[in-house]
Amino acid sequence: MKVLIIGGGGREHAIAECVSRSPKVEKIYCAPGNAGIAELAECVPIAPMEFDKLVEFAKEKKIDLTIVGMDDPLVGGVVDAFEAAGLRAFGPRKNAAILEGSKAFSKDLMKKYGIPTAAYETFDDADQAIAYLEKTTYPIVLKADGLALGKGVLICQTRQEALDGVKEIMEDHKFGSAGNQMVVEEFMTGREVSVLSFVDGRTIRLMTSAQDHKRAGDGDTGLNTGGMGTFSPSPFYTKEVDEFCWKHIYQKTVDAMRAEGREFKGVIYFGLMLTPDGPKVLEYNARFGDPEAQVILPRMKTDLVDVCNACIDGTLDQLEVEFEDNAAVCVVLASDGYPVQYEKGKLIKGLEEFKQADGYYCFHAGTKQTEKGIVTNGGRVLGVTAKGADLRQARENAYKATEWISFENKYMRHDIGKAIDDAQL
Ligand code: AMP
Ligand code: GLY
Repeated sequence: MKVLIIGGGGREHAIAECVSRSPKVEKIYCAPGNAGIAELAECVPIAPMEFDKLVEFAKEKKIDLTIVGMDDPLVGGVVDAFEAAGLRAFGPRKNAAILEGSKAFSKDLMKKYGIPTAAYETFDDADQAIAYLEKTTYPIVLKADGLALGKGVLICQTRQEALDGVKEIMEDHKFGSAGNQMVVEEFMTGREVSVLSFVDGRTIRLMTSAQDHKRAGDGDTGLNTGGMGTFSPSPFYTKEVDEFCWKHIYQKTVDAMRAEGREFKGVIYFGLMLTPDGPKVLEYNARFGDPEAQVILPRMKTDLVDVCNACIDGTLDQLEVEFEDNAAVCVVLASDGYPVQYEKGKLIKGLEEFKQADGYYCFHAGTKQTEKGIVTNGGRVLGVTAKGADLRQARENAYKATEWISFENKYMRHDIGKAIDDAQL
């Protein structure tokens, strides 16, 4: 089989690594890929939003399966474009990717079908939003409706912050057209857990749970980032939480999408908050999380290609999806200054250490091959992942492996997985 992966970050590197373990796969392509993915796949310089070129390439190379890693092409309808050309692509069609693409849509869906989530109001008019914010209680959460690189969420402690937020989102268009509509949401408290799943339109199979660390600094301080590290499984995802979510969230979401005529095939990522009133949905994503994929996919036992095909064919009910009974931790190595301002082009040393080390992975996020070697080429540079018998062991291994890598301005958090110590393990 020939597989094409769309994207070029740490998530797509983890997908490529997982696909490369399939005995059915003879060749992997990745568009556009990166310097790390190039060791597993042939990288082709086509951007993820160039649908015509991607389709043309897949036809020419007789690609059997395309896996879409990123949200933008999914929300833009890349799967529809592939299907229209008679090609097989894993991921939701445009009318289902709206589950991630519009927060107003996903909130209305949850309300209509009784799926637990924070109370909310939606606005497409700044004056009405302001009138509402004058009389509500604080803190409160403002969310731009559309995709905003995970940055369109503002937690406002005071009325003034909220009024400034409305200006940023709806008047200054800081998040572009994502801010044409806005959701104003009740502030919730609790631990966050990510649960990813495979869905074939009807049947849903969970992957293992994970937790991300979104803030740039130790102790969850500093700015929001694309994610500074992850661990899997989450010790806070207990049997009780699992039972509650099966009853009130997972199957209900899949059934709701089908009932709306928006059958969902692909990955549904449930961003959950374990509130004092029980688990509630913070957000849905329509793809693998990044860097969640970097701790989930290395632990996956079932052939990913089989699972993708079962989702496309609607036969997921005939397949068990299994994960190793161990743990993994991913520590992101970033360029100092991320997410605001940082330098690029720094030579990376130590990458070869990972080749001999079983259970250790160095996923590339922002790197580039140059004549002098592989250099830094982004804010998040590498995701260093290690497995271990349990979470503590995996964390120890991951931090040990971060020392193998050196580059100028290397920055990381030192408390990824600290929450493990709070759990009653
Ligand atoms: P989202 O992109 O919707 O997941 O939001 C990004 C982050 O903002 C989440 O991971 C939470 O930490 C925080 N957040 C979002 N919605 C709420 C809420 N209603 N209450 C408290 N925190 C929230
Ligand atoms: N790690 C969060 C996300 O992928 O959206």
